[in-house]
Amino acid sequence: MNAEHGPSFTRRAHPAPVAADARAAMLEDPGFGRVFTDHMATIRWTQQHGWRDAEIRPREPFVLDPAAAVLHYAQEIFEGLKAYRLSDGGVALFRPEQNARRFRASAERLAMPALPEATFLRSIEKLIETDVAWVPGGDGSLYLRPFMFASEPFLGVRPAAEYLYVVIASPVGAYFKGGKKAVTVWLSDDYTRAAPGGTGAAKCGGNYAASLVAQAEAMKHGCDQVVFLDAAERKWVEELGGMNVFLVFDDGSLQTPPLGGTILPGVTRDAILTLARDEGRTVREERFSYEQWKADAARGKVREAFACGTAAVVTSIGEIRAAEGGFVIGDGGGGPVAEALRAKLVGIQRGDVADAHGWVRRVL
Ligand code: COI
Repeated sequence: MNAEHGPSFTRRAHPAPVAADARAAMLEDPGFGRVFTDHMATIRWTQQHGWRDAEIRPREPFVLDPAAAVLHYAQEIFEGLKAYRLSDGGVALFRPEQNARRFRASAERLAMPALPEATFLRSIEKLIETDVAWVPGGDGSLYLRPFMFASEPFLGVRPAAEYLYVVIASPVGAYFKGGKKAVTVWLSDDYTRAAPGGTGAAKCGGNYAASLVAQAEAMKHGCDQVVFLDAAERKWVEELGGMNVFLVFDDGSLQTPPLGGTILPGVTRDAILTLARDEGRTVREERFSYEQWKADAARGKVREAFACGTAAVVTSIGEIRAAEGGFVIGDGGGGPVAEALRAKLVGIQRGDVADAHGWVRRVL
C-alpha cells in the first residue's frame, strides 16, 4: 500500500468470459441490475494490515463465514454510478469523485475504514478498462456498484476488524420498466425511512432494507415507488425509496427538501440544482409538506414533480396515491421542465452538451 496512491491492482483474467455474440444478446435489453460483466474489483482491509490484495478478478460468488458480521448486524455501505459510451466511442464517468467522497462519509457513519478516494476511483477505472466491451451504446450505460461489508467472523456487537470492498458492474437500460414517462408514487403513512441522528444521509443497505415493506405496500397499490415523510412530525416530504424528489412551480422555480442528515445527498440532485440555477431558475432547498404539495397541485401552482437519482436519472412523478386518496400532478404524464433537465443532464453525461462544470471524467 502506497499511502498516497493506494494499493496497485493485480489482474486475473476470467478463464471463460462470456462470448462476444452472447454478450451482444445480453446487451440488447438488459433492464436494470440483472446482467453482470465478467470481472469485479476487490480489496481487503484488516485492522492489522489496512488495505491490501487489490485485485481485478473473475466475478464469482464469495466464500463467507456464516458468522461474518455483515450477516448479523448489517455493517454495509454502497454506491451507484454509471459509465457512459460517448458519441466518439470513448467512455466516461459522471462526477465519480462525488461518489468517492460520499462512500467515505458513509463509511465514517457506519464505523468502517475509509477507502482513499483515489483508490475508489482507480478500482472503478480498472474494472471499466477490463470490461469495456460491456459498456452499452445507445441509451444504455454501465452501472457500477461499489460496496463494502464487514467480513470478520465475530458475533460481538462492535465495529468489525475485517472488511471486503468490491466493485461489480452491470450494463443497464431504464430503471423503471419500459422507460416510463411518469411514475406513480405511494405515500407511506405507517413507515418512515430515517430519523434525525440516524443513517438517512449514509448510503447503507440498512436504509433500503427498512424501506422494503413500504415499497411492497406501494407495489400492492400499483405504484412504482414510495414517498416517505419525516419521522418527527410525519408531515414533511423527505425522499422516495431510492431517489430524491423535486417540485416545479408555475413561476418556473424548483424546490427540493433540504439535506439535514435524514436525506441522501444525491449526486444527481446536486447536478439538477446547478443546471436549474444555470438556466436562471429560482431553486429552493426548503421543506414542503404533503398537504401543501397536494393543495398546490390542485390549484395548478405545482406543475410538475420528478424523482432523480443515478439509476432513475430524472423521472416525472405523475400521480401520488395515498390511503386517504391522493392526487394527480399536471396531466399525470410528466412535464417539459423535467424532460428538458433530463435531456441536458444526459447530453452532458454522453459528451453531446458542453460540460461547463467539469463533471465528465473520461476513462477511455
Ligand atoms: C442509484 O440511483 O444509484 C441508487 O443507488 C438507487 C437504487 C434505487 C438503485
